[in-house]
Amino acid sequence: MRQPFIAGNWKMFKTVHETVVHVKELRSLVKDAQGVDIVIAPPATSLHAAVEAARNSNIAVAGQNCHWEREGAFTGEVSAGMVREAGAEYVILGHSERRTLFAETDLEVQKKVRAALGAGLVPIVCIGETLDQRDRQQTLAVLDQQLQRGLDGATADEVAGMVVAYEPVWAIGTGRNATPEQAGEAHAHIRTRLRSWFGAEAAERCHVIYGGSVKPGNIASLLALSDVDGALVGGASLDVASFGQIVAAAVA
Ligand code: PGA
Repeated sequence: MRQPFIAGNWKMFKTVHETVVHVKELRSLVKDAQGVDIVIAPPATSLHAAVEAARNSNIAVAGQNCHWEREGAFTGEVSAGMVREAGAEYVILGHSERRTLFAETDLEVQKKVRAALGAGLVPIVCIGETLDQRDRQQTLAVLDQQLQRGLDGATADEVAGMVVAYEPVWAIGTGRNATPEQAGEAHAHIRTRLRSWFGAEAAERCHVIYGGSVKPGNIASLLALSDVDGALVGGASLDVASFGQIVAAAVA
């Protein structure tokens, strides 16, 4: 049985000070939440402060991105090892904002997945179709390509420990989220693919979470779907109370 996994993607929001204030409030709000993985992904500048503020709590920390090289002349980048050393346990990779705004490719996502695993981080690999691709009935083909390329070279054991986030691009930050039918179809498809590529056990253990305008009001209907193992929450994760309610829905 997969334990629900709720992650907050803060994007480019919150300073170090704001991070510490937020984590202090959040840790008291979710202190009794059991049977759920709670993860927050602050900006790189706040990673270490978030880890310190969350110490001895049930909140884990994720990076939002990393580079695939261990170190080098890559101005503006941070390596997987640096993210890990700052105390993060997870890293979000291939988010659609990285893909569209920063031209990140499937091959780069794959290299980042390798680097993250090598550094001891759990990758949260994001995949999802644009509205245009959905309208052209290309959704499942797009998911196949992003998943297959992103995870290429991974072992069944590695996939078993990973998190895949299905985030339809048209649902991110738009207030429009996938219907349960749309999310259910995509998640079941992803699980089927994981099973045929990496085996039944890896597919059973891998967490497949949904992202895109997840709010306290729609989390329950998403979690009710058998192949939805949690959520990657953007906007609603910036507010402690909303994120706390989403975590609470995953406990219930
Ligand atoms: P949203 O973002 O919840 O604000 O739609 C989700 C994400 O980008 O991971």
